Amino acid sequence: MLRPIVAVARFITFAAVALWDHPELRQRLQEDDDMIEPFAQEVRRYYAFFPFVAAVVRDDFDWQGYRFPKNTRVLLDLYGTNRDRRTWIDPEAFRPERFKQWNGSAYNFITQGGGDYYRNHRCPGEWITIELAKVGTTALTRMMRYAVPDQDMSISINRFPMVPRSRFLIENVASLIPVREETAPEATYDLIGKQLQSNERGIRKEH
Ligand code: HEM
Repeated sequence: MLRPIVAVARFITFAAVALWDHPELRQRLQEDDDMIEPFAQEVRRYYAFFPFVAAVVRDDFDWQGYRFPKNTRVLLDLYGTNRDRRTWIDPEAFRPERFKQWNGSAYNFITQGGGDYYRNHRCPGEWITIELAKVGTTALTRMMRYAVPDQDMSISINRFPMVPRSRFLIENVASLIPVREETAPEATYDLIGKQLQSNERGIRKEH
């Protein structure tokens, strides 16, 4: 489970980078719920940090004039397919709106593999990744405030998997959500049930 958690964290890092590069998007994301998913999808398209998958041809076949002999090692270009001019208008631009009209094809947006989830090796974690990228985007834009110190956020696509050089450093982090401590538990116990502390009144504290 560690690998996918780190992978999802990387998209949340790239969401923070995209917000830094496009500050005008922050307010739109704060006000318009319908922008959250297109933004998260554009982060996944634009920052496809896992650039290709490898496979070995099982049986000879031809495809679009190319010969694929058995046992040949082949690479599927995830990064390049996500930025292919034949399917994406202005692919080098970070533009979340494009996902408001996206046709949902299984073959042109393949950050986590392409084709049919049930018959191929396409990532079964893709739906959860999208949901977590949306939660991360919501947290960065609506739940917290932070400052971004000077750092080297340049991204080398020769590094695999891709990541900003400084990662993404933030400071002076503050919550935008009023802190409310829920009703304190009646009592706390140690692992074998011995009472450590009691709180008979269950005081509710608000700050
Ligand atoms: C967050 C970013 C993620 C990226 C970029 C990513 C990427 C990929 C890629 C490229 C593949 C190979 C697809 C292929 O061979 O066609 C894959 C497979 C897989 N992924 Fe992910 N993944 C991510 C998150 C997750 C999560 C959250 C989970 C699980 C909770 C997960 C579980 C798997 C599994 C089990 C496979 C193997 C599927 C198979 O071989 O049939 N991944 N992933």
